[in-house]
Amino acid sequence: MSRRILVTAALPYANGSIHLGHLLEYIQSDIWARFQRLRGRECFYVCADDAHGTPIMLRARAEGSTPEALIERMQAEHQRDFTAFHIGFDHYHSTHSPENRELAEYIYSQLQAGGHIARRSITQAYDARAGMFLPDRFIRGTCPRCGAPQQYGDTCEICGATYSPAELKDAISVVSGAPPEKRNSEHDFFKLGDFTAWLHQWTRGRDPGAIQPHVDPAVANKLEEWFTAGLKDWDISRDAPYFGFAIPGAPGKYFYVWLDAPIGYMASFRHFCKLHPEIDFDAFWQADRATAEQTELYHFIGKDITYFHTLFWPAMLHGAGLRTPTAVFVHGFVTVNGRKMSKSRGTFINAHTWIEHLDPEYLRYYYAAKLGAGIEDIDLNFDDFIQRINADLVGKYVNIASRTARLLNRHCGGRLADPSRASMAVPQDPARRSALAAIVSAMAELIAQAYESRQYSLAVRQIMKLADLVNRFIDQYKPWELAQAARYDALQEACSAALDAFRVLTIYLKPILPALTAKAERFLHLEPLSWADLATPLAPGHRIRPYEHLMTRVNPASVKAILAASEESLQSQSMKKESPMNPIAPEITIDDFSRIDLRVARVVRAEQVEGADKLLRLEVDLGDQTRQVFAGIKAAYEPGELAGKLVVVVANLAPRKMRFGISAGMVLAAGPGGQEVFLVSPDSGATPGMKVK
Ligand code: 2FM
Ligand code: ZN
Repeated sequence: MSRRILVTAALPYANGSIHLGHLLEYIQSDIWARFQRLRGRECFYVCADDAHGTPIMLRARAEGSTPEALIERMQAEHQRDFTAFHIGFDHYHSTHSPENRELAEYIYSQLQAGGHIARRSITQAYDARAGMFLPDRFIRGTCPRCGAPQQYGDTCEICGATYSPAELKDAISVVSGAPPEKRNSEHDFFKLGDFTAWLHQWTRGRDPGAIQPHVDPAVANKLEEWFTAGLKDWDISRDAPYFGFAIPGAPGKYFYVWLDAPIGYMASFRHFCKLHPEIDFDAFWQADRATAEQTELYHFIGKDITYFHTLFWPAMLHGAGLRTPTAVFVHGFVTVNGRKMSKSRGTFINAHTWIEHLDPEYLRYYYAAKLGAGIEDIDLNFDDFIQRINADLVGKYVNIASRTARLLNRHCGGRLADPSRASMAVPQDPARRSALAAIVSAMAELIAQAYESRQYSLAVRQIMKLADLVNRFIDQYKPWELAQAARYDALQEACSAALDAFRVLTIYLKPILPALTAKAERFLHLEPLSWADLATPLAPGHRIRPYEHLMTRVNPASVKAILAASEESLQSQSMKKESPMNPIAPEITIDDFSRIDLRVARVVRAEQVEGADKLLRLEVDLGDQTRQVFAGIKAAYEPGELAGKLVVVVANLAPRKMRFGISAGMVLAAGPGGQEVFLVSPDSGATPGMKVK
């Protein structure tokens, strides 16, 4: 019986664009789904926009729009990008859908009936001006540990401290600018602890007959920390105003976005089944049916959301009497040129920016060439990227076709040799010729295993070794010399053997490169190939179509253009994004302002601070004196790029004693923090010590 598989990728938030970090997962899961289909399995691949939550509600408000209009626009943008990257979802839905509401209500009622929901009152920060409770991220204030201003309600970006919003000094709501109050409210909690024993076993186990455990042992080991600390009740409700689903029987309460997000996997599939009545939703989701029919369910996720998918989600499903995942596949993050993606370095690259400059299949291939089954981060190193695409895809795979198909078309009418007539046309080594196809096909199982176990880098290595072999075969028979010598039978045989091997490589590469391989199928004059076609060589006398160029080399100028475009677009975007969340502070008088002594200064030295996550130590020249200032700009700037730079310093700020020494002043910068920090720098005519007015 053929396997029946449902695959999901994490649902992207509806308030942000798809970027290269997201794409790692969509490419990884798409390759896997395509591989399963290529092998003849029934494999459905679904996703949706993650549409609920406070940030989406507030962003819509700031845009003068509605959440519904915002999520509709973003969904269209996301789907445009996915299509460009050949992410072949069978269905793409939204968590803000009738199916999701129905399923969320169902799961909640099941959990309630099972006694797994507790209701109790909690105290939270409340913005009386905006009339809403505030998530931690929407409170800013002064860090209780290091005194850094403008820190989030849960962590300090400067010293790394974590605390509760109540501990922040001079806290304000970023929604209205009002100081938050404390208010009580009733919340619903999912009693995760009820499932401790079951979850512990589940995270270490596998489904009967499954080829992999529910969770990779390395990930399960990490989860031990949570079990050791004890699984805590999970707050699954939020107060109005909130963009989400109202909780039945709890007026003014909504399901927390993370409650209905994973249910969105089911909702997307449910909608797909409505469009395709022959597909049986229950066979994939009802516990007993899924067990009896051995349907499989796989979630691809990033390591940051492991907790939700390997603890909350299986517990919710189990508690509601539904099937649990066959496995949760966790991957790492993307780094660019060895570092975290950074807006200021221009390496925070949106899918759409990529599409404007480079072929999306380059990225699919590069990620595949680097992906293993583990949670290690994947580095997109642009020098290596250029080299790899040009050497492997263009120099090896495409090269086989371009070296042989044109000659076959020109000298043999595009017809392949007929082996029954071939006899000794290439007398040097007939055994080797027939062996070529056999060798290339012999790797099929190994490559299939590599795909199945998500070790795509291994698959790619094997495929490229075979491409080398085929190129060596061509080098040996030199069909271009055979053409000059008018030995057309020999030419036809050599090219036919190479093209049949190329056909096999095309099948191997199909999951990774759907568009390129479709072009290859077209010129080979074949219907779309499947894995089973490995065993069917090109027919004797088969006629190929005229060869059309398959893929061009990566132009390094395009890479530069992407980095430049990302820097510009994201800088302006990040400024736009923060404005609605950063209300203008209460009014001050000119006298108030004149109490702040702003001076031009020049950075004399900049260096890392041992043990500090966010800070650089700066020595700044104020004309008549040099000061030491600690600035939270480590994620955005390299010390080397700062020396000599003009900056603006708050010169009369009271010196602050920090963990690493005294900070005598403050350097002005714009942006929300982290990698999105932009130093305020006067034009080059300014000199240290000048007053900034
Ligand atoms: O972390 C995120 O981007 C979430 N939107 C992922 C949700 S995945 C699933 F649970 F819906
Ligand atoms: Zn701090």
